[in-house]
Amino acid sequence: MTAIHEKNKVAAPRPETGRGSKNGAEAVSDMNDRALGLRGDFPILSSTVGRDKLPLVYLDNAATTQKPRSVIDAISGYYERDNSNVHRSIHELGERATALYEAARERARLFVGAESADEIVFTRGTTEAINLVAYSFCAGLKPGDEILLTQMEHHANIVSWQIAARLFGLVVKFVGITDSGELRLEDYERLVGPRTKMVAVTQMSNVLGTVNPIAKIAGIAHSKGIPLLVDAAQGAAHEGIDVASLGADFLAFSGHKAAGPMGIGVLYGKREFLERMTPWQGGGEMIRTVTLEGFEPNDLPYKFEAGTPNVEGAVGLHAALDYLDSVGTDWIREWEKVLSERAIAGLRSIPGLEIFGSARERGGIVSFEVPGIHAHDMAAFLDSRGIAIRAGHHCAHPLAQRLGVVSTARASFFLYNTLSEVDFFIQTVDEARRRLS
Ligand code: ALA
Repeated sequence: MTAIHEKNKVAAPRPETGRGSKNGAEAVSDMNDRALGLRGDFPILSSTVGRDKLPLVYLDNAATTQKPRSVIDAISGYYERDNSNVHRSIHELGERATALYEAARERARLFVGAESADEIVFTRGTTEAINLVAYSFCAGLKPGDEILLTQMEHHANIVSWQIAARLFGLVVKFVGITDSGELRLEDYERLVGPRTKMVAVTQMSNVLGTVNPIAKIAGIAHSKGIPLLVDAAQGAAHEGIDVASLGADFLAFSGHKAAGPMGIGVLYGKREFLERMTPWQGGGEMIRTVTLEGFEPNDLPYKFEAGTPNVEGAVGLHAALDYLDSVGTDWIREWEKVLSERAIAGLRSIPGLEIFGSARERGGIVSFEVPGIHAHDMAAFLDSRGIAIRAGHHCAHPLAQRLGVVSTARASFFLYNTLSEVDFFIQTVDEARRRLS
């Protein structure tokens, strides 16, 4: 174990809520011990980076999380033992691969709390899931109908709808955000009108870390009979998901941001909507019959899964969801809160540094800038010390415009980050400020 990952000896902050009967510092120290133990499940975290072979401090988890051994083994085991195409071949491997693929769908159903596995469509990721809904749902709308988004969305939850708006003559409207980085909920009352046909919102901002009051937004949308789509890309592994309590009619998340592999994602859609929606891609498996004159679509969810699917991705996702549930999303949420509160407190002590967003409800994402130091220079300096963060507009141009910045530096946490890593990150940001400004 390298110095950065040694057990943190400094006084831990007092946690706010629910960490048992132990005093705050002890409870946090226990959580830190658990995070240190969990690091052993992730082979990449013991690797080094750079010419000086520095210990890796991975704080770019909002871009993608690292993968536990169980996910890596599930994928290689699939190729070593079970690989075949699915829903086509009746030989043993074909049946095994199909069973694994459908078991992953059932696992995803359980993870999101859907009523039926027919409501789970596998996609390449959140982006493809939202594009699917934007096309297939909007194809049934009339010119002049409206889609209501927010100013804090990732491009995936903006551009998909803008494309649909161009294709189908729709109007896209936006709920604004406050200076503290929260949604202006009063905008919903003002902007939801008789032409509004869909409300779409992120569960957690990938820039500000703001966790949005999804159930409240669902209440507003549903009171007017409008469905709600939730972009859970940043929420799935960190906040947990339950489509019933969130009030989501559609929900999208990516495997790779939830300890799973890249190239696999989940779209949950309520049956009543999915059944009415037109298929968006044509190909094998999404049809019941085809003639030269036309086709009849397959049942749910296959109607939306044209072509050979990402079976290894589904198998890896299954293992990832097992892993997350074994750690516990409640624990993950609470630990990331400890880490981000410590990061925010430390960053606030750095002269001149600005943190973007101060929402009351926030997850493990912190964006900041030191005036006079470009976010890319900050990221490069941190990288020279082995710390991985992301710098840029984070695929959220309208939000960057609202914040009045071109780019920010962003640190994002996951279950395996430790107090020592946060402290080393803060020290190094301060060192960058002294050296680069
Ligand atoms: N959407 C991912 C991020 O925010 C890639 O970094």
